[in-house]
Amino acid sequence: MRISVVGCGYLGAVHAASLASLGHDVVGVDVDEDKVVSLTAARAPFFEPDLPDLLGQELASGRLSFTTDVSQVRGARVHFVCVGTPQKQGEYAADLRYVDAAIESLLPHLSPGDVVVGKSTVPVGTALRLAARVREAQPEAHLVWNPEFLREGHAVQDTLHPDRLVYGLDPAADDVPERVLDEVYASLLGDGTPKVVTDFATAELVKVAANSFLATKISFINAMAELCEATGGDVTVLADAIGHDARIGRSFLNAGLGFGGGCLPKDIRAFMARAGELGVDQALSFLREVDSINMRRRVRMVDLAREVCGGSVVGRNVAVLGAAFKPDSDDTRDSPALNVAMQMHLQGAHVVVTDPRAVENARRTAPELKYAATVEEAVQEADVVVLLTEWREYRELDPRALGEHVAHRRVLDGRNALDPTVWRDAGWAYRALGRP
Ligand code: UDX
Repeated sequence: MRISVVGCGYLGAVHAASLASLGHDVVGVDVDEDKVVSLTAARAPFFEPDLPDLLGQELASGRLSFTTDVSQVRGARVHFVCVGTPQKQGEYAADLRYVDAAIESLLPHLSPGDVVVGKSTVPVGTALRLAARVREAQPEAHLVWNPEFLREGHAVQDTLHPDRLVYGLDPAADDVPERVLDEVYASLLGDGTPKVVTDFATAELVKVAANSFLATKISFINAMAELCEATGGDVTVLADAIGHDARIGRSFLNAGLGFGGGCLPKDIRAFMARAGELGVDQALSFLREVDSINMRRRVRMVDLAREVCGGSVVGRNVAVLGAAFKPDSDDTRDSPALNVAMQMHLQGAHVVVTDPRAVENARRTAPELKYAATVEEAVQEADVVVLLTEWREYRELDPRALGEHVAHRRVLDGRNALDPTVWRDAGWAYRALGRP
């Protein structure tokens, strides 16, 4: 099937390449010429394992192409809208200008029977409005809402092996859009991927509800970490113990610096803003608490650094391991690691940050900080080493070898990723969030 994907950022680039690998003929459209040039050369504009190989393979097959010319969507039966919905400047609400622009750019090129598929995370009610817009321009075209649940660092795997497919359908439409989408995802459905067919509102809500639940799980365990800090308990043992209960489950109970990135923080805020508009803000007032528990962890991390440095970080050499919001990503959007590094810098510390992949993005986001290419370079004469993103290479560091470079063997584990016994045996003063 010929398919267009409008918006070739994180979601769109992965989606376009993945659909091509399912055998479809896919054209990706983006307004950013640099991005199109880069993708056409099989270079992903961001770090995502498996994507460069997939791009190379699908471009070579002739099934995948990228362009800035939106008229190239003509002839495609299905048009995926994969643009971003960032947080509005100074507000909680989502900024829908890219979604609106993408839909408007598609409208002149739609043919009867075409299906426009929204994948972006939007405030509930958006699909209904956009469906009317699509019908107005091409009465025989349809809109479907089909949210995406991929995680950065696992994006290709999550797209080709999703936990579920959700179709939000227009009650005014016949069964054509569902059949067309079934055809797009035939091989995933054939593999047994569960399909949930519902209305627009439910489909839009599924996405934000899922992200809210995940954020709540993380903040719940981080609230327990606060209790552990006040009582001498160990939050990692607590998480293991409650996680054995199948009703609770162990995943997303890793206590530490909390959540960041381009999705969870802005999605829960946009959800609260939308609930306010709908007059049901009380229903989501708990998310305000989820957000503040999350932000408090960052402050606590800085307090801990001050504490181990004898009450102040002024003039202290602080080596920060990690800048990305999570491992296996070069994304520094709302990164807890960079936020903590920045706070320490503002309090007068000499901060040197390193990260296996995210230094370039970090430099753009926080140009005030100093960066090092390697851990050894970052920890030279450090008064304290602070682990803020749990990359595998940091989890596997040899504390004895590292100890040779530092001024003081003090380590703060912001992600509960290191083995305290191993580090203490190597002569380090080890401190972590939520652990004695
Ligand atoms: C998330 C959702 O998982 C995904 O389904 C959705 O489509 C987009 O948002 P992503 O932002 O890529 O994906 O990252 P995720 O792996 O969910 O991690 C989010 C943040 O939570 C990271 O900062 C991570 O470090 C943090 N986290 C995660 C914890 O602090 N503890 C955990 O137990 C899990």
